[in-house]
Order: sequence, then C-alpha cells, then structure tokens
Amino acid sequence: MNGEVLTLKVAETADREEFRQAVLDGLARSPRAIPAKFLYDARGSALFDDICGLPEYYLTRTETSILRERAGEIAALAGPGCALVEFGSGSSVKSRLLLDALPDLAVYAPIDISRQHLDESARRLGRDYPALTIEPICADYMVLPALPAIGHAARRRLGFFPGSTIGNLEPADATSFLRRARRLLGEGGALVLGADLKKDPRLLHDAYNDSAGVTAAFSLNLLRRMNRELHANFNLESFAHEAFYNSEEGRIEIYLRSLCDQSVVVAGRRFTFSAGERIHTEYSYKYDLAGLEALARSGGFTVGRTWTDPAGLFAVAWLEAIP
Ligand code: TRP
Repeated sequence: MNGEVLTLKVAETADREEFRQAVLDGLARSPRAIPAKFLYDARGSALFDDICGLPEYYLTRTETSILRERAGEIAALAGPGCALVEFGSGSSVKSRLLLDALPDLAVYAPIDISRQHLDESARRLGRDYPALTIEPICADYMVLPALPAIGHAARRRLGFFPGSTIGNLEPADATSFLRRARRLLGEGGALVLGADLKKDPRLLHDAYNDSAGVTAAFSLNLLRRMNRELHANFNLESFAHEAFYNSEEGRIEIYLRSLCDQSVVVAGRRFTFSAGERIHTEYSYKYDLAGLEALARSGGFTVGRTWTDPAGLFAVAWLEAIP
C-alpha cells in the first residue's frame, strides 16, 4: 500500500468510527437526533446537488443570481488586494462568482472539512485561475482557532459563508460562528453572508417537500448509509421524510419518522421505535432583515448592505467587523 492510499484508509476508518459514535449516541438520546453533516456521504452529496436544481428549492438559484448581479458591488466594497476566506467551500461553485469579480485578489483560502472536496476543487480552480494563489485549509471552521500565516500580507480579509448554512446553526451557535469568523478575519474584516428569509410558509414547506421526492430520498439516504457502514437493518419503506415550518421558532424542522412499531439493529445494538417516533436531523432557520441585523451584532459585525431578489426570498449581506 502506498502512503496516499494508507492515509485515505486511516481517514476512512476514523470517519466511520465518528459516524458510529454519533449514531449510537444520537439514537440513545431522547429526543433522538443525528447530526445533519452525516447526510453528506457521496450519494447524499449527489442528491443534495439534485435538490439545488429542483423547481421548489429556490435557495441556490436565488442566491446565485443575487451574487451574480452584485459581484461588482461586492468587489468595490472589498477593494483591491483582499484575502478571500470561504467557510465550508465544498465544490467552490459560488466562489467563482466572487473570484471573477475580484481580479486582484491576494489569496483564496477555502476551508472545508472534506480533504477530497478541497483537493478536487483546488485542482479545478488552479486550472481555471492560473494567476490565483490558492491556500486550501482542511479543517472544521466551527473549531478552527486561527488561520495559517496566509493572507496576513493581504490588505484585508473577506469571509464568504453562502448557502444559508448559517440557518442550519441554532441561534447561539450562529452567534459563536460569527464571533469566531470575526476573530479569524481580524480588524477591517468583512463577511459576505447568505441567509434564507422568512416568507409564505407554503413556499418554505414545498422547498423541503419537493414533488419529485428527491428531498425524501436525500433524508432516507441516512438510513441507507447506516445500513451500509454500520451494519444496520433499517427498512427504508417503514420510515418517512418529514419536514415542516415551525413559525414560532422560525425554522424548518427535518426528521425521519417511523411509520410503525419496529425494532432496528445498528452496530450490534437494538433500538425500538414506536409508530410516529422521530429522529431529528436538521433545522433550517429563516431570518428577516431585523433578525439578521441582530444576529450580526451579536457576532461582532454590523450590516453594511443587504441585497435580495425581487421576490424577497433570499438575502446576501455585507457584514463589517466592529472595531
Ligand atoms: N442547508 C440546506 C437547507 O437548510 C439543507 C437541506 C435542504 C436539507 N434540504 C434538506 C437537510 C433536507 C435535510 C433534509 O436548506
């Protein structure tokens, strides 16, 4: 086995063990919950890409159109010689809109937890932007204590956190994320933040309950992943995807619901589910402009600008670090 293959195998074993622990803890807890990040195995990531193209899932295309339209303004606010730091870069598709508009960027530093995503997207970006300095950082941006030396020479650091991922954090965690980002970006730092907005609950409901059933397949894929990786025996027919808008909390809540009384073995342990019992996987908080303003302040930023689409579905905000 060569070094690279061995490193991959070790990483895979560690990932599997982390998944096993999280699932066993999450299923033993009451109410039951499994962290949403485990939805994104290879098949889950492919299904999520499909979700982003669904007619009901307005988020991705709306944010992309706002960024496309406002990239020039963002570049003007940023000024020359920035370091662009992306939190959770994935395949860096949206970053290209900013990279195209920020021609004299000092460095692009994508942060992602997936080594594979980072390497692949850095390779593709290197090909398409031969003059750009790319400094990939393989880390969990929720715990990253500091940025490596990169970007210190840059005139200012510009963070990028698109996709309304901020909405997948509980409000207290969203505040901690912003505080951490504020610290990493330093004095003069700014953050381009994408956030989904409150709206007609029917539109919100449909975005997470598409008629083609792709979102349901994405949700249920978590059971399939447990079957494959943790020797579980979930029957995918006896669980259902459930997503609804909780207007008091201002969030979409996502669960897997047991359709009957049943018991399931996962990694050698038996868990019983009564009919209607649920496993929580994700919240997706929706903001209004006042809520965004308050959130920004709680994290050490002020909102300089917000841009929305004509229908007011989604917001991209320009946040500036409070000195
Ligand atoms: N970040 C996405 C969102 O909040 C995640 C998501 C979309 C999701 N659809 C889902 C998560 C269905 C679980 C199940 O919009």
